Amino acid sequence: MEQSDTLPENAAAIFEQIVTSRRSVRIFDGSPVPESVIEKSLDMALSAPNSSNLQPWEFHWVKTPELKVELVKACLSQAAAATASEFIVCLARTATWERARVDVLNQLEKHEKAGVRIPRAAFEYYRKLVPLMYAQGPFGLRGLLKRILFFWTGLSKPTPREPVSRHDMEVWATKSTALACENFMLAIRAYGYDTCPMEGFDSVRVRRLLDIPSDALIPMIISVGKRGPKGVTLPVIRADRSLFVKIR
Ligand SMILES: Cc1cc2nc3c(=O)[nH]c(=O)nc-3n(C[C@H](O)[C@H](O)[C@H](O)COP(=O)(O)O)c2cc1C
Repeated sequence: MEQSDTLPENAAAIFEQIVTSRRSVRIFDGSPVPESVIEKSLDMALSAPNSSNLQPWEFHWVKTPELKVELVKACLSQAAAATASEFIVCLARTATWERARVDVLNQLEKHEKAGVRIPRAAFEYYRKLVPLMYAQGPFGLRGLLKRILFFWTGLSKPTPREPVSRHDMEVWATKSTALACENFMLAIRAYGYDTCPMEGFDSVRVRRLLDIPSDALIPMIISVGKRGPKGVTLPVIRADRSLFVKIR
């Protein structure tokens, strides 16, 4: 992916427009969404910041018409699904970090061979620390040992406490996946289309329908389309910022 560290002068104004005009659209107008828009928005999703760069996500773009029909049903036939043109089922993977670790190491080695200076600490991080942090062992026993170890070392010095359980790994993968989802939705908006993130679905049926791996969570399904004239059903509602923003 192209990288640029300079931005046009109006970048902030445009970004603000993209963020504030993104709304959860419940009624799409049925227009098709160009494949390139979904492709590019998925690329934006994949460029989101993520924990240790282990990219614990997967995005299943459901294109098969029969699957789409079943997916709408699994989304409880809610309007945001029934009227949508495209669907992205977003997965948070807790068991792909080892594959990602090896891939990052390979890529770092490749860059180094091409003359890019890579700090030794980066290799050490992926060779030693990453397995230590993310492997929870059979029946989570390694995680349990880590929890005890972290408790003791934590008595005398700052110590990383998580992830030490399957639940921690689920939170870990979901954090990064949610950031990618937001990148995706903002990108779709930037291309002039709309989305609705949905957690209103029958996860058992979605899992069965798409044969979702058992280590994966489905933080959300994102429907995509073009907003209809009455597609946004509610005004923007947020509580006062003082409730959420604390100066410490
Ligand atoms: C994780 C998540 C799950 C959501 N699930 C649904 C859903 O199932 N159906 C729906 O219509 N909206 C859903 N929404 C949309 C929210 O209701 C919406 O973001 C919120 O009301 C704020 O409105 P806005 O997105 O237009 O700013 C979901 C949003 C998120 C982030």
